[in-house]
Amino acid sequence: MHKDFREILLTEEQIKNKIKELGEKITKDYEGKDIVLIGVLKGSVMFMSDLMKEIKTSVYLDFMAVSSYGNSSETSGIVRILKDLDNDIEGKHVLIVEDIIDSGITLQYLAEYLRARNPKSVEIAALLHKPDRKRVDVNAKYLGFKVPDEFLVGYGLDYAEKYRNFPFVAILKEEIYKNK
Ligand code: IMP
Ligand code: MG
Repeated sequence: MHKDFREILLTEEQIKNKIKELGEKITKDYEGKDIVLIGVLKGSVMFMSDLMKEIKTSVYLDFMAVSSYGNSSETSGIVRILKDLDNDIEGKHVLIVEDIIDSGITLQYLAEYLRARNPKSVEIAALLHKPDRKRVDVNAKYLGFKVPDEFLVGYGLDYAEKYRNFPFVAILKEEIYKNK
């Protein structure tokens, strides 16, 4: 294991099985409909690429990039759009794909922002959520794992842009991010 990790929280196998389940649910719920999957860069890239393979209805793909001001291990509450959608979503079924719901602020903002463009529906799929950190309510229809209030990396998640490439979710050692 990498020396910066305290432990592996979710293995590749666990993640794979969960995504299969989520994909089956999504396939059923959107039967006969087109979905626009909107990935939130960069954290969602691994989840997106695995999830879309498990969805057996036709999907369109788009990405947004957002950032919140402030330090890198905590959300400030202000969301800034760095990259907007390439295509119009009016009248479309939109599914936002995100790595993790922490305070919920990013997704609440994004969902509102996208709803203002008159899509037919907006739902959220998040691989991880931290219930202990919730500050605002986000109604995510598709949730993978409930996780403890620890700083997590891997499977797309980063600390200061590092560790995104690991195929599992690990708990980062506190000494790596404390007092930075
Ligand atoms: P929220 O707006 O507080 O819900 O924060 C969501 C964003 O914070 C996610 O998209 C991640 O980029 C980041 N984030 C929250 N918790 C973690 C974590 O444990 N590891 C890595 N990134 C995280
Ligand atoms: Mg992120």
